[in-house]
Amino acid sequence: MPGIEHRLIHLFAIAPLALWAQVPLPIPDTLSGSSINLTVQEGTWEFHAGEMVNTYGYNGDLLGPTLLLEQGGTVTLNVTNALPDLTTTHWHGLHVSAENDGGPHSLIYPNTTWSPSFTVLDRASTFWYHPHGHGLTDYQVSKGAAGMIIVRDAQEAALDLPRTYGVDDIPLILQTKAIVGGQIALHTGLDSVVMVNGARGATKELPAQVVRLRCLNGASERSFQLGFSNGMTFHVIGTDGGLLETPTDLTRMRLMPGERAELLLHLTGMAGENFQLMSYASELPNGIIGAAEVGNGMATLDGYDQNALNGSDYALVSFSVGAPTGTGTTALPTTLVPTNPIAEADADLTRTFTMEPQSMGPMEMIEGPFEINGTLMDMDVINEVVELGATEIWEFVNNTMVGHPIHIHDIQFNILDRNGSPPEAWESGWKDVVYVPPMGSARVITRFDDFADPDMPYMYHCHLLMHEDEGMMGQFVVVDPNAIAEQEATAPLQVWPNPITSGTCTVRWPEAKGTASAWLIDAMGRVVHEASIADASEARPLTLPTPGPGPYTLLLRDASNQYTQTTVSILP
Ligand code: C2O
Ligand code: CU
Ligand code: CU
Repeated sequence: MPGIEHRLIHLFAIAPLALWAQVPLPIPDTLSGSSINLTVQEGTWEFHAGEMVNTYGYNGDLLGPTLLLEQGGTVTLNVTNALPDLTTTHWHGLHVSAENDGGPHSLIYPNTTWSPSFTVLDRASTFWYHPHGHGLTDYQVSKGAAGMIIVRDAQEAALDLPRTYGVDDIPLILQTKAIVGGQIALHTGLDSVVMVNGARGATKELPAQVVRLRCLNGASERSFQLGFSNGMTFHVIGTDGGLLETPTDLTRMRLMPGERAELLLHLTGMAGENFQLMSYASELPNGIIGAAEVGNGMATLDGYDQNALNGSDYALVSFSVGAPTGTGTTALPTTLVPTNPIAEADADLTRTFTMEPQSMGPMEMIEGPFEINGTLMDMDVINEVVELGATEIWEFVNNTMVGHPIHIHDIQFNILDRNGSPPEAWESGWKDVVYVPPMGSARVITRFDDFADPDMPYMYHCHLLMHEDEGMMGQFVVVDPNAIAEQEATAPLQVWPNPITSGTCTVRWPEAKGTASAWLIDAMGRVVHEASIADASEARPLTLPTPGPGPYTLLLRDASNQYTQTTVSILP
């Protein structure tokens, strides 16, 4: 962007600061205990004075209460849908069974209640919840349905950290929205209303001691380059899935949609000072939504050039420093918790996920729709089968000109590398979103423990919600090979001929009940073919594609959820 134009836009973005009224930063209420009721409902909100906008919220008009959960505790969440539309509620980052995860298969019909119940297994950290219906996520999150989750555990409790909610432990839900014609709009690129906890230009007084900021990027597409207007160093103590081993000192930190970070500010002796949490988006590299440029100069995203936030530096929230509370944290911790990252050598296999536009072209390279491994999300297709207990490297290869924050449900991972280089210290802990740079790659390592359900998938997807809704998402199931082996002993699956040469074989599973689903799974655990077989208790033909010679697993599930599997060889 040329200098003069850039400065003008910069001024345009910064000028309203001087006019900021003293809007106090809203602090969402908290809910805790073993039974939590959430109602997702319609509301209205005044983002600009005198302009009432239709919104969605949990238990209110916009956003939702912060859920306080204890590791080891059991919680039942009763989620009632009071919207005139289908919805789901996903516990982003929590390690729960696929049934409890609230993904796109857990639809809540209007005027009904969904009640997942689970034990909290997560480390102390900051998580969040939001709707996740297939094709509905962007609309419902943009309308305002989202909330924060704080998990506490004994290790965190033993540290001298700020944890008085709303006083020295501050939730900050960072978002931008497009308001066009008086209503929240999608996909315009005109998301120029910057808000924190639903408020524009808010101010919060912080005590002159150590303060903890829990930052959540709840924006649909925009990334923030966080920093403070007074240039002060902040200390990152935790990311998506837990605390770091030691605080990491930074003056800038990228936070992409879906990501969380906990920061400490050392404000001792600063009473009377004012500063702002900023996004220094002028420093974001090409390809990250929010940067001055996305793409190669040959194409521009819809509305991108007209949005003054893109590539400029702007304030998210203002802080004033008041008197210390007298009871809080006064010194920065030097060590936090052991993170015990997974060693690369422990991996059982690597899966590669290649992201490409559905069709090639300069516009498509930045706008999508984007596919993962040559396909868009299909609710009826399981893309990956993972064995319970497996340690896997997931490699994301980005053949597009947009940076994608890729999120995996069920697990937390460690980032091994990005474009071949190890992550910086602040990204070395537990994560559930990884930034995959344009025309670049990232590798993460994780272990799939505790929950197996061959029937109910988890999701992996881009957390740019438009990309997700357009199908940049896939489904994986976790299967327990021992459970399947037990059933196999009593329910053998017959396949002939085996090896298979012609692309067709006959299968018979004497104990099958009703119509069976069949999956052909390659040595990497990837589903290469899916079919359904009516009454497989009799010999039935099964046509397989010829995905290349090699050993495959043929997995069948019947109508009563019995499983069987056998190894088949496909010859060239
Ligand atoms: Cu925050 Cu699959 O979502
Ligand atoms: Cu999630
Ligand atoms: Cu994306």
